[in-house]
Amino acid sequence: DETAFAARGGVPTHEWGDGLRSQQWFGAEGKTGFMHRSWLRSEGLPDDSFRGRPIIGIANSWSELTSCNLHLRGLAEYVKRGIWQAGGVPFEFPTTSAGEPIVRPTAMLLRNLMAMDLEETLRSNPLDGVVLLAGCDKTTPAYLMGAASVDLPALLITGGAMLNGKHRGTDIGSGTSVWKFTEAHRAGLIDDTAITEAEGCMARSQGHCQTMGTASTMACVSEFMGMQLPGTASLPANDSRRQAAAHLAGRRIVEMVAEDLRPSKILTRRAFENGVRANAALGGSTNAVIHLLALARRVGVELTLDDFDTLVRDVPVLADLMPSGRFLMEDFEYAGGTAGFAETLGELLHRDALTVTGATLGENYAGAEVFNREVIRPLDHPVKPVGSGIAVLRGNLAPRGAVIKQSAADPRLMQHTGRALVWDTLQAYLADAEDPELDVAPDDILVVRNVGPKGYPGMPEVGNLALPRKILETGVTDMVRISDARMSGTSYGTVVLHVVPEAAAGGPLAFVRTGDTITLDVAGRSLHVHVSDEELEARRADWQPPTVPGSERGWTRLYIEHVTQADEGLDLDFLQGRSGAAVGPQAF
Ligand code: FES
Ligand code: MG
Repeated sequence: DETAFAARGGVPTHEWGDGLRSQQWFGAEGKTGFMHRSWLRSEGLPDDSFRGRPIIGIANSWSELTSCNLHLRGLAEYVKRGIWQAGGVPFEFPTTSAGEPIVRPTAMLLRNLMAMDLEETLRSNPLDGVVLLAGCDKTTPAYLMGAASVDLPALLITGGAMLNGKHRGTDIGSGTSVWKFTEAHRAGLIDDTAITEAEGCMARSQGHCQTMGTASTMACVSEFMGMQLPGTASLPANDSRRQAAAHLAGRRIVEMVAEDLRPSKILTRRAFENGVRANAALGGSTNAVIHLLALARRVGVELTLDDFDTLVRDVPVLADLMPSGRFLMEDFEYAGGTAGFAETLGELLHRDALTVTGATLGENYAGAEVFNREVIRPLDHPVKPVGSGIAVLRGNLAPRGAVIKQSAADPRLMQHTGRALVWDTLQAYLADAEDPELDVAPDDILVVRNVGPKGYPGMPEVGNLALPRKILETGVTDMVRISDARMSGTSYGTVVLHVVPEAAAGGPLAFVRTGDTITLDVAGRSLHVHVSDEELEARRADWQPPTVPGSERGWTRLYIEHVTQADEGLDLDFLQGRSGAAVGPQAF
């Protein structure tokens, strides 16, 4: 029908031939091809949608339970424009999502489920490439992990940060200000009215947290690792340039399919080194350690916990953003954003690393400018000097390692010996912390255990324990805290995190007792409890692993049985590595 064909327009410029993966479904003869095509035509698609056009998935993590990702519902429409324009055919689909502020026990419990959901959906459907729409903390690493294991051409778009929080004349940042407000409220410095008002002023637009928390960290880091279009991670959620970027991403993914540009070509060791170093320069989240370790294992790149310490020793903190600094993501964008930041980092990043544009990182950012040197600092005027990144500690309390974010810690406590006060559960600590009679002094070291990957499934962000009320009332704002938990990327304090092995897996952390003496020596990279090996072993005899509520069935059971420790990224052991996108046998 020549007339109908002439009316179609938009004929793709690329000659696709039969090589497209999706043609294994749609190019099939007889009954099989009929079935694959005919049901999808109920979506109103012309018949040539299935001949000679790449089929592009748009994985969407929007959910009303994940407020940070809600606007991705609309953003997908802009991605579709670009895909159509480039001659592809888009299919948007939902996956599991994970809303950081509400999922219990922690959104991290769902990261691997979400990654597995994406992986299985990509592999089992007629897709040639995928655009990933994520944003809130766990959703970005989940999508990167799932897409890396399938290794189809993939391009990430994160949702962008909320506008700056504004409250009574000051800027307030998500997470960071929560700790400040709630502690001030506990200490009686602000009243109920002020705190209710602050709740509505912090998250006042769509988007992810506007501090350099885990979401902003993973957004920027994944751009510097080559997985997002350059200069886009820092665009605010409500900025119309983000919609244009989504349109361009739709066009670009079609080209990426033509070029067979897959995650395995982008996520090399050099890309991970860029990610680790960019994280340090951003003053980024300790959660990035866990997510990048997990992602590296998906693609078979050798990356170790020690890399997060040794690779960053010449990297200063250059982004003056909360929680390490003063400003928020909206300010960061207006100061030049990720593009200006990449230019500032100069040779601290491998400029020859390949990216989703098909060009190198150096080519992508050439000529980018910085417009506010207060927010994006020059190398000779950093927020925190070199040597204030993540330090990896070892010792008889953490044989496989623990981490501390030096830029968030009090320099006074970086070399500290004190009496251990130990709690077996988070709840017991929180109850005791309110006790005005608690036997605690500012020099003590607070230890909470059984909050690791298996002990409190998903390893919640509780390591930055709120200080005991008695201590807060004296005006002291920091103490050494040690746990097998994580902490929010938006929080601060002299907090030793990610102790491996965790207590619930029988690590030595399980055997510390109140009254033991602990030495934290950040410069010496050590964490030591002054108890002999023999005594620690003797204490093991009295130890019972904790019982974990909800661990009898379902996902939580599978999780506890298979989750790896923090030094391996908390992936499930059987999800490590990659199984590719080979199409399974046809059943009909
Ligand atoms: Fe979603 Fe912070 S809670 S990004
Ligand atoms: Mg968080």
